[in-house]
Amino acid sequence: MTTNPPSFGQTPLSDVQTLRARARQHIEEGAVTEGYAADRDKVVEMLNEALATELVCVLRYKRHYFMASGIHSAAVAAEFLEHAEQEMEHADQLAKRIVELKGEPNFSPTGLAERSHAEYVEGKTLHEMIKEDLVAERVAIESYREMIAYLGTSDPTTQMLLKGILAVEEEHADDLSSFLESMKD
Ligand SMILES: [Fe+2]
Ligand SMILES: [Fe+2]
Repeated sequence: MTTNPPSFGQTPLSDVQTLRARARQHIEEGAVTEGYAADRDKVVEMLNEALATELVCVLRYKRHYFMASGIHSAAVAAEFLEHAEQEMEHADQLAKRIVELKGEPNFSPTGLAERSHAEYVEGKTLHEMIKEDLVAERVAIESYREMIAYLGTSDPTTQMLLKGILAVEEEHADDLSSFLESMKD
C-alpha cells in the first residue's frame, strides 16, 4: 500500500514534511512551535494578570456566599457559589495555558490584589455584594475583550480560551443584573 503525502495544492499552508521538521526543532518548547507568532512573555504576563483576577473573584464570591442573608439570600447565595466555582475553573484553565506557554502561573498571595484587574470588595448588604460583583464582572469582561483583541490571530488557542471565559463572564454579569432588577420591587 502506498501512502501519498497529503497535498495542500496552492494553499498557503506549509507542507507536512516542513511542519514535522519544524515541530522537532524545538521539541523542548512543548506546545510552543516556531509558528507561534505572539510575544510569549507578554502573553504569559497578561494571562497571569487574568489568573490573579479570577483568584480575587473566587475569594470575593466565597465571602459573599457565606455572608449572604436576607429575603433574597437563598437564590443569590447559590448563584455566588456557582460563580465562585466557575471562576476557579477559569483560574485553572489560565494556569494550564501559562504552563503550556512555558511560563509559571503566579498563585502567590503577595500582591494578588494589585495584580488583579477586579477588586475584592466585601459589601455590607446583599444588594451591595451583588453590585460589587457586577462591577468586577464588567471589569473582567473589558479586560478579556482587550486581551482577545491584542492577540488577534497571533495565538488562536489562547484566544479561543479567553473567548470561552469571556462568554461565561457575560453570563455572570447578566445573572447579577437580573438579581438587581428583581430586588427593586
Ligand atoms: Fe472568570
Ligand atoms: Fe465571572
